[in-house]
Amino acid sequence: MKRIAVLTSGGDAPGMNAAIRAVVRSGSSRGWEVYGVKGGYQGLITGNFSLMGPRDVGGIMQKGGTILGSARCPEFRTEEGQIRAIRALHQEGIEGLVVIGGNGSQTGANALTLLGYKPVVGVASTIDNDLYGSELTIGVDTALNIAIEAIDRLKTTASSHQRAFMIEVMGRGCGYLALMAGLAGGAEITVIPEVPTPPETVAECLRSAYERGKSHAIVVVAEGAEYNADKMVAYFKEHEQRLGFELRTTILGHVQRGGNPSAFDRILASRLAAGAVDALARGEFGVLAGLNRSEVTTTPLSEVAAKKKEIDVRLVELAHILD
Ligand code: ADP
Ligand code: F6P
Repeated sequence: MKRIAVLTSGGDAPGMNAAIRAVVRSGSSRGWEVYGVKGGYQGLITGNFSLMGPRDVGGIMQKGGTILGSARCPEFRTEEGQIRAIRALHQEGIEGLVVIGGNGSQTGANALTLLGYKPVVGVASTIDNDLYGSELTIGVDTALNIAIEAIDRLKTTASSHQRAFMIEVMGRGCGYLALMAGLAGGAEITVIPEVPTPPETVAECLRSAYERGKSHAIVVVAEGAEYNADKMVAYFKEHEQRLGFELRTTILGHVQRGGNPSAFDRILASRLAAGAVDALARGEFGVLAGLNRSEVTTTPLSEVAAKKKEIDVRLVELAHILD
């Protein structure tokens, strides 16, 4: 192998830059040329490649976002788009591709292998932590710490006013971030898509917190829950008389994806990305580099694309006990 490419795709995640840096430097140290693809799969389709050397990735590890840019690319979901991408890879003489991204991105990487472009290795990266094949993904630690900081801040004002607050955190269809934020932030109740929770249950929990003399009440809700922040607040407004209290809301949104990556995410990104380059070097193609039991492991992309990562029910139980 002489020439590889790297791209970042889907929602950006803090730590992606550290992963790019590790791909470029690990590849260069093997004597390979490493090309950066600008703008995710869109850049792959249009052949937007540029050669990167070790010095081009200096000083980026601590930066959030991705210097290569990312995109949601509808065209790449089509076979036509994928064939255009493979043509661009061949034209540039690229013999290996590293895809840094989440669920959708790795499904796309698998699609490339199914169409005959085999030397693809994924790097598990998404703040949602919803990717099969990696217990933890790049970015989730930073996002979680941002959520915790927000909860801590809300708690102080909630206590001062004896108010109930609800905070919505990201996680498209997955409650991991919310569950962990609820646990680490000491929420009274956490609402996640995996465990349907009607507003009446939330109201009951807040009432009980009040009756037990708690000075504050925090609800953490995942954006993907059936009753997300908007729907929950609408329900509480509609039934305000009967429920007897209102709910103040904060939607954290993209704040969680910004900012400098934590030390954990920088190290995870460096390890997984270097692991992806190692996999290419030993000819292990069509796999995802992920973290399992503290080790860098590989899982076939076909499994990653087909399987769903389940939430750990023991943590859901723990959250209930500690609430
Ligand atoms: P993430 O990788 O963070 O989960 P997305 O789900 O938006 O983000 O996926 C990123 C990109 O991956 C999409 O814009 C699309 O180009 C590609 N992709 C997603 N799903 C598929 C799929 N089923 N087949 C092929 N490509 C896909
Ligand atoms: O997949 C990461 C994520 O931040 C999800 O948690 C969220 O639902 C989605 O991306 C938001 O996407 P966008 O940045 O395109 O609005």
